[in-house]
Order: sequence, then C-alpha cells, then structure tokens
Amino acid sequence: MKNATVRQGDSFLRIRIDKTSPVPVYAQIGEAIKNLLKPGTIPPGTPLPPERVLCEHLGVSRMTLRQACDTLEREGFIESHRGRGTFVAPRRMEKKQQEMRSFTEEIRSRGMTPSSRLLVFRSVKQAGADLEFFGLPDTELLYEVERLRLANDQPIALERIHIPQYLCPNLDRFNLASNSIYNILEENYGLTLAHCTEQISAASPSKAQRQLLESPPNGVVLVVNRRTYSNKETPVELAITTYRGDLYTAVVHSARSASPT
Ligand code: GLP
Repeated sequence: MKNATVRQGDSFLRIRIDKTSPVPVYAQIGEAIKNLLKPGTIPPGTPLPPERVLCEHLGVSRMTLRQACDTLEREGFIESHRGRGTFVAPRRMEKKQQEMRSFTEEIRSRGMTPSSRLLVFRSVKQAGADLEFFGLPDTELLYEVERLRLANDQPIALERIHIPQYLCPNLDRFNLASNSIYNILEENYGLTLAHCTEQISAASPSKAQRQLLESPPNGVVLVVNRRTYSNKETPVELAITTYRGDLYTAVVHSARSASPT
C-alpha cells in the first residue's frame, strides 16, 4: 500500500512546463498539479516528490516551486507538514473553502434583491498599491468603477474597484448599474474568477460615505479590501467595499486544518 502511494507520487514527475509560454512558470506548475489532483485518483496523504527532486525535474528554482505550492495549499489541494514534506490534501479541504461571491450573488443568497447606482466610471493611471498588485507596466490603464450597492432598495455598501483595461476592453458598453461585473467578466471576457484574499476592518465613514449610505449618526462601517485572481493567477481586481456596519454582517466559514502529527 505504501509503495502504491509512493508510486502515485511519481505522477508529479510527469508534469511538463513550457518556458517559452507567456503564462508564468509557477502558474503552469499550479495548473498542472491541480489537473492531476482534480479527478481524485491520487489518494489524500500521497506525498509529493521532495522539493529538490521536483525542482530538478522541472528545471525551476525553489522559489518558483514554492510560489506554486503556496497557492495550491491556500486553495486546499495540498498540505505541507514541517519536516515531513508535502502531501495531497483530503478532498474535504476543497469544500471547506469559503465561496467567493459577487455582491449580486451574496445579496440574493440572503433572500434580497440587489441593485446598484453607478457613481464613477473612468480610466485611471496606476498608482502605489495598484502597480504592485497588478504587476503591469505603468503605461497600462485601469478602469475605476464606483457604485452604491443596494439590497431591497436600501443602500448597504459603497464599492470602488480597479480592473486592468487590457482584461476587459470597452467595459463601458455594459450597464454596470444593472449588471453584475463578475458576471460580465466571466460571460463576456472569458475570465474565470477563482479566488481572492480579503482584509476586513472597521472604520468611521466619511461625511460623503455617511450621506450616500444613509448611515445613522455615529454608525460605523465595515471596510473589505479584496484582491481577486483568475484561475490563471492573473490579478484581476482590487476592490474596496464599505458596508454599513449596522446592516451588514460578514459571515466567514473557517475550519481547523488537520494538525500535523
Ligand atoms: C463584491 C466584492 C467586489 C466585487 C463585487 C462584484 O462586492 N467585494 O470585489 O467587485 O462583489 O459584484 P457584482 O458582480 O454584483 O457587480
């Protein structure tokens, strides 16, 4: 049985990458490993070949391999145990992942009707955090979209997002007040939005935010900073969503990962 498990691990040594492809090498490795694991034929607990062996086989640096493995671990495909190596994660890890929802999906899932008011739509140059996150030449422009978001006609959030124009040229031909941007990106621009990281903090709203959100005096807001990536690990969106703290509760599903023995 043990030998069979080790042999399963050999499948990782059949992975090939194309260094001439514009897709970053770490993203290719990540995709290839996911494709190996998705059918579920390699049992959980199967060890991946040692880092050194995989690096040699793929002709990549440890840093590149780690970049791929970090993403795979975050997405629940593999788990690494210090000193013991990296293993195929139990499939339940996939289910544990919190679903990444659009505003539209989230409000509908809470049994309400979403709508939006478009406040700003323009092209902007990248600055500071954008440059770092998108990793694009500074000549590339971003779309800046600001919307007031409502649930059952009640303002609930203000949202400002930045998306590189090269990913969705002519985005202005869509009605962003009545449509889901995630839906537009997926249906019309062939993007697959795969995962995001979010930072959530509390703040006092500015006067303008208070007015737009119709916040009560002394009301606080919940600020959610989201960084969204495609299935090819392309940075797609930087978003700041400011929710009325008295109307919105962030629900976060978390699970304790299997502890290393
Ligand atoms: C949520 C996210 C935003 C995202 C938005 C898309 O609010 N925090 O990052 O831009 O959903 O919503 P929709 O697809 O409904 O326009």
